[in-house]
Amino acid sequence: MAAGRTPRKGLKGRMPDRKETFYITTPIYYVNDVPHIGHAYTTVAADVIARYRRLKGYQVLFLTGTDEHGQKVEKAAERANVRPLEFADNVMVRFKDLWARLNISNDDFIRTTEDRHRQAVTRLWEEVRGRGDIYLGEYEDWYCTADENFLTETQLKDGRCPDCGRPVEKLKEPSYFFKLSKYGEPLLKYFEAHPGFIEPQNRRNEIVSFVRDGLRDLSVSRTTFSWGIPVPEDPRHIMYVWFDALTNYLTATGYPLESGRNIFWPADLHIIGKDILRFHTVYWPAFLMAAGLPLPGKVFAHGWWTVDGAKMSKSKGNVVDPNEMISRYGVDQFRYFLLREVPFGVDGDFSIKALEGRINSDLANDFGNLLSRSVSMIEKYRGGVVPERVEAMDRPESEAAEGRASEEFIRKLFEVTLYSGEYKGSKWKNFDKLMDELKFSDALEQIWVVVRNMNVYVDKSAPWKLAKEKDEETLSNVLYTLAEGLRILAVYIYPFMPASAQKVWEGLGVEGDISACSFENEVRFGKGKAGKQIKKLPPLFPRIQQ
Ligand code: ME8
Ligand code: MG
Repeated sequence: MAAGRTPRKGLKGRMPDRKETFYITTPIYYVNDVPHIGHAYTTVAADVIARYRRLKGYQVLFLTGTDEHGQKVEKAAERANVRPLEFADNVMVRFKDLWARLNISNDDFIRTTEDRHRQAVTRLWEEVRGRGDIYLGEYEDWYCTADENFLTETQLKDGRCPDCGRPVEKLKEPSYFFKLSKYGEPLLKYFEAHPGFIEPQNRRNEIVSFVRDGLRDLSVSRTTFSWGIPVPEDPRHIMYVWFDALTNYLTATGYPLESGRNIFWPADLHIIGKDILRFHTVYWPAFLMAAGLPLPGKVFAHGWWTVDGAKMSKSKGNVVDPNEMISRYGVDQFRYFLLREVPFGVDGDFSIKALEGRINSDLANDFGNLLSRSVSMIEKYRGGVVPERVEAMDRPESEAAEGRASEEFIRKLFEVTLYSGEYKGSKWKNFDKLMDELKFSDALEQIWVVVRNMNVYVDKSAPWKLAKEKDEETLSNVLYTLAEGLRILAVYIYPFMPASAQKVWEGLGVEGDISACSFENEVRFGKGKAGKQIKKLPPLFPRIQQ
């Protein structure tokens, strides 16, 4: 594979001259369970990054999919009394449908039962085996089927899985092993040379100390179940489901073929939950090293959602169904909440109260109100046409000063808060930087600093007073400033709330699909043209009666 040709690019890559690629992935979700808020969270976060990168001019490959092999899925199918593939077919659709409803812009959806994937995994195995890093032995120790994870006696906690607390089973069977022990030093060196490979930092520290404690060879095949990809030339063995699953990221680039999407490898960013960090930052890079393939740019492990302070579980019946949230509150409201409420990387708690609170304060009161009052005033005072800015040069200084000063304030606000991030004593971080660092919550807060200040601007400049005083020039300037500010804000909220952003554009009479706009071109204040016919829309974010 020719992946080595692609130059390494970090997340901090500048705006490319020629289209630079950006490959982002979510975990592929097990089909033993239907999608819930945790899966929605990871996938929405990845979608926000993918959309943002596209706006910035990157050629993006955004991958998600389903993990359909392994003992856990085999058992779930048995319980449902259907063949595993049929079982997977049914659940897979639940994921696909949810992503469509959530407006997820994935470029591909991979299933590990596809032929392209079997070919890729088989080839990766052969590469690793060919280089001498897979050997035949016998595995005798514990296994957690829920996590599809091998465990030693000493790792068990009260005889159960230390990670998920479920019962474990004792295995004793012939098995192929991957020489993971050989990769301790190379991994530590790699972590050292690439400090941003694992984020957040506390997760990185965990992994570094885990690797420092020493790695044992890893069992990578099983003989006591059959639902999976057979080991080449020894089909009594089924490949370990994590060897199979992790390879999906390569499969989607066309591996092992040298054509098509291979320009996307190595992946720039694997977004995962903290539960599967070790698989992605120890096993996965070791497999890739063993096969002589380049390593991904970054693995980011986000935190864990609880519900009303408790762990989500079927037995407790507190699992949050994203479909229900969308029906009750709207797609963008749910997307916004997920990324605004909790800093990415930290654990968070879901509650209806918090969700409704965010919708009412941030979306209905702040953004929705700014939009509806701006649109109403343009209708009322300018017949629904965005007015031309009037240069107040020939007017006495005192008369025009206030209107101009306020407009300057809004321009400055955009500049300081969202563009450059520099200000005396610099309280603000640049929006782009926050997005590059995956600080979604802070990035949204920056946008809302502008939103709230624009509402203050409306109150202070009091267009209704200007109208009464017949100060038409100042009034035009204020109304133009509001329309222009909202046009730009729509671009900023687009990655998070794509459908609403498009509606704002349409409401302001801006032509075209906001997803096709270029960030750099559109977010310059003053770029928006006057003369646009605005459209009155139903409230974008209706208030929730609490
Ligand atoms: O682990 N809070 O699949 P999986 C936040 N097939 N995120 C959560 C969550 C919660 N409460 N619950 C789940 C697998 N997630 C493997 C992955 S990848 C090569 C193979 C999210 O269905 C989070 O992203 O158990 C977590 O990592 C993932 O779902 C686990 O999904
Ligand atoms: Mg899991």
